[in-house]
Formats: sequence, C-alpha cells, structure tokens
Amino acid sequence: MANFEPKIVGFLCNWCTYAGADLAGTSRIQYPPNIRPIRVMCSGSVDSVYILRALLEGADGVFIGGCHPGDCHYVSGNYKERRRITVLKSILKSLGLDDGRVWIRWVSASEGKRYADSISEMTSHLKRLGPNPVSKYWSL
Ligand code: FES
Repeated sequence: MANFEPKIVGFLCNWCTYAGADLAGTSRIQYPPNIRPIRVMCSGSVDSVYILRALLEGADGVFIGGCHPGDCHYVSGNYKERRRITVLKSILKSLGLDDGRVWIRWVSASEGKRYADSISEMTSHLKRLGPNPVSKYWSL
C-alpha cells in the first residue's frame, strides 16, 4: 500500500478548468501526476455513466472540474452537474463505494494553483482510501 499511486480520471471543462490546468503547467506548479485529463466542453456534459464506467474499469477516483457558479459558458451546465453528482454519490454509497472517490471542483482559467492544490488534495485523499475495490476485477 505504501507504493500505491491512485489513478484519477479527470473531466475538465474546456473554458475554465482545462485552461487552469494548462496554467498550472505553464507556471510550473508541481502537483502529483496521477490525473488523466479529458477535455469536455462543459462539466454539464459529463454523464454519470462516464463516471461509473471509469470507476468500474479501475479508476481510483474521478475528478470533475468546471467553471465557478455563474460563469458556465452554457449558462447552467455546472449547476446541473453538481446536482447529478449529488445523486451519483448516494448511488455509490449504496453500492458500497466511498463517495469521496468522486470530486467536483470549480476552477477558473486563472486558478492554476487552485487546480494543482485540488489534484494534490484528491491524490492524498485517495491514497488514504486505498485502491478502488472494483479495480481488482478490471484495470485501466
Ligand atoms: Fe465550464 Fe460549463 S462551460 S462548466
């Protein structure tokens, strides 16, 4: 368990969090390399099925990054995603999975440090939780 490095699938909104991640990189802010980012046009386009599939196929955690409330380029995508995640977390609990494996955070294009801090915090949290119990059946 000491060498456990969690695999995080990240769905990052094109307009805010993806640009924030880019800024973290160009600013050379250090953060753990555990996330596999996927650029999406809006956090609201991240269907719960994508998240469940990532977890079922062995991801230890899923990170969804979107624009701050009021800043979504598609008006209310981030609000819809937040509601979707609330429901999904209750489903995860009923399946016996820790709901702390799914995080949603608002990170703007100018918040490279906030992005790096969020990924560092999530990686530490997943290290404490240990490997996704489903990953012994499948792996990414
Ligand atoms: Fe960024 Fe909707 S466009 S969350």
